[in-house]
Amino acid sequence: MCGIVGYVGFREAAGVLLEGLRRLEYRGYDSAGVAVKVNGRLEVVKKAGKLQVLAESLKERALPGTLGVGHTRWATHGAPNDPNAHPHSSEDGRLAVIHNGIIENYLPLKEGLLQRGHVFASETDSEVLAHLIEEKYQGNLYQAVRLALQEAHGAYGLVVAHQDSEEIVVARTVSPLVIGLGEGENFVASDVPALLPYTRRVIFLHDGDMAAIGKEGVRLTDLKGNPVQREVVEVDWSLEDSEKGGYPHYMLKEIYEQPWVLENTLGGRLREESATAELGLKLDPARYDKVHVIACGSAYYAGWVGKYLIEALARVPVEVEVASEYRYRDPVADQKTLAIVISQSGETIDSLEAIREAARKGAGTLGIINAKGSSITREVDDTLYIHAGPEIGVASTKAYTAMIAAMSLVAVWMGRAKGRLQDQPAAEFTAELRKLPRLVEEALEERPEIARIALKYHQASDYLFLGRHIQAPTAYEGALKLKEISYIHAEAYPAGEMKHGPIALIDEHLPVVVLTTESPLYEKTVSNIQEVRARGGRVIALATKGDSEAKKFAQDVIYVPRTHHLLAPIVSAVPLQLLAYETAVCLGRDVDQPRNLAKSVTVE
Ligand code: M6R
Repeated sequence: MCGIVGYVGFREAAGVLLEGLRRLEYRGYDSAGVAVKVNGRLEVVKKAGKLQVLAESLKERALPGTLGVGHTRWATHGAPNDPNAHPHSSEDGRLAVIHNGIIENYLPLKEGLLQRGHVFASETDSEVLAHLIEEKYQGNLYQAVRLALQEAHGAYGLVVAHQDSEEIVVARTVSPLVIGLGEGENFVASDVPALLPYTRRVIFLHDGDMAAIGKEGVRLTDLKGNPVQREVVEVDWSLEDSEKGGYPHYMLKEIYEQPWVLENTLGGRLREESATAELGLKLDPARYDKVHVIACGSAYYAGWVGKYLIEALARVPVEVEVASEYRYRDPVADQKTLAIVISQSGETIDSLEAIREAARKGAGTLGIINAKGSSITREVDDTLYIHAGPEIGVASTKAYTAMIAAMSLVAVWMGRAKGRLQDQPAAEFTAELRKLPRLVEEALEERPEIARIALKYHQASDYLFLGRHIQAPTAYEGALKLKEISYIHAEAYPAGEMKHGPIALIDEHLPVVVLTTESPLYEKTVSNIQEVRARGGRVIALATKGDSEAKKFAQDVIYVPRTHHLLAPIVSAVPLQLLAYETAVCLGRDVDQPRNLAKSVTVE
């Protein structure tokens, strides 16, 4: 959500900023801007709309200079227009500020600044920072930023440039910032992909960190000015990892990456001889008698699948809740609770606050996370990385299936440690887990049939998704994927619940996707399908290969490979991702950056 890039060095800053912002486009934005120091003066160009609009303006007005800051803004306070775009300048135009997050006390600050004669050019909360820093500035930019941040409260990833300074000054509380270290040049960005063309040596700033970044070095302090030490991390993402690799969209590339992602998530963690999972965690699973799973969006549905897995394999009660609710409801958690937070970005603010709440109550905290060094990983007792590599498409795909694979490992780990998962079922389940990469590869082969179905139904105004037991969350995830990228209204229900209301929606115009993979509830799901058919509904069944019955009750069938019924959500997610993708392509939607959505939601 919002992208930041800053550069000091020897290259043309504008090019570095534009390229970096392009790599952050997946975060979601609606305006973009840069400020570059040109012949000792800061010059700002900013535009509503996509980066292309900004790039066109920069063709007309070149900004030669080797120090600059750039931003893509996802509107919170104020409409997405030119004045509200970042950077925001001080009144004298000598400094420029870019900011991710929300300054919570901006109204009283703005009131004071107005009374002292400041004139504002935008409706944003961020602009108060430009005026406040301008007031504090007495020839030392770092000190001015530090003093301003004694007064401004809230969330910020802040980057400030001044025309008299050879350094840019940055500060972080809540909103992520990462510094990239080069030779004779240094960078800052809100996320690693912006840095990858130039360096893999990075420093992840912590909450309360500040830095002055010059071309020859970086000084790190806390907000009081005390020096701080942070580890220099070598990131192992290749440039290619964050490029499209020949696919028309990141989302499609990421769907196809799932076999190796699952290999990464599971690899080295399954112990065949003992039929267990070795996760290298400090937490002792035997200590906990209940589990809370906290997450948002797709990660929440992965957590819901995890509930079935943990309850089935470890016989430990699990509550799953969306993080934005958990954090405010005074949950009943204690030292005997293991709170698991699931997040691709590791930056989702609701998830971060919710896990803090669980920790305050004494719960043990485990993060199931993709992004290394992200905020949540620094707050939890332990992190189990899913190792999915950068996920750029706004709609989560490979991270989703990797999260479920990670939850399967957690279920085995707990079940074995508690002595509730016996040798034989443990061996069977872990053997099936091992097969997942190959099975997902097989599931991907159904794409032509899925494309045909997508084309057939792409003009439907609504879709219904039904599934039971561990496939209920899969139905919800399928509906979420479809609505996110195709904008078709889609609802999901546990199939058995349909007769209690949603059945009223069924007519000959409504495609109904029903998850009928092999499971102890197969027969019951089939009866739910008959109820849909009897009312003229159009059924798309997702069935296990070899199921000869499915064709009899469904107009269209998508086959998935046979697996353990507790792992069916992984092989079933793949065709649902493809169905959403192919439908969105038929409709000409912006697959990788659907309207209104942001990849990582760092505001409440
Ligand atoms: O980074 P996180 O996993 O914490 O993100 C959670 C949700 O915002 C995310 O899953 C969102 O729902 C995606 N757009 C789903 O495709």
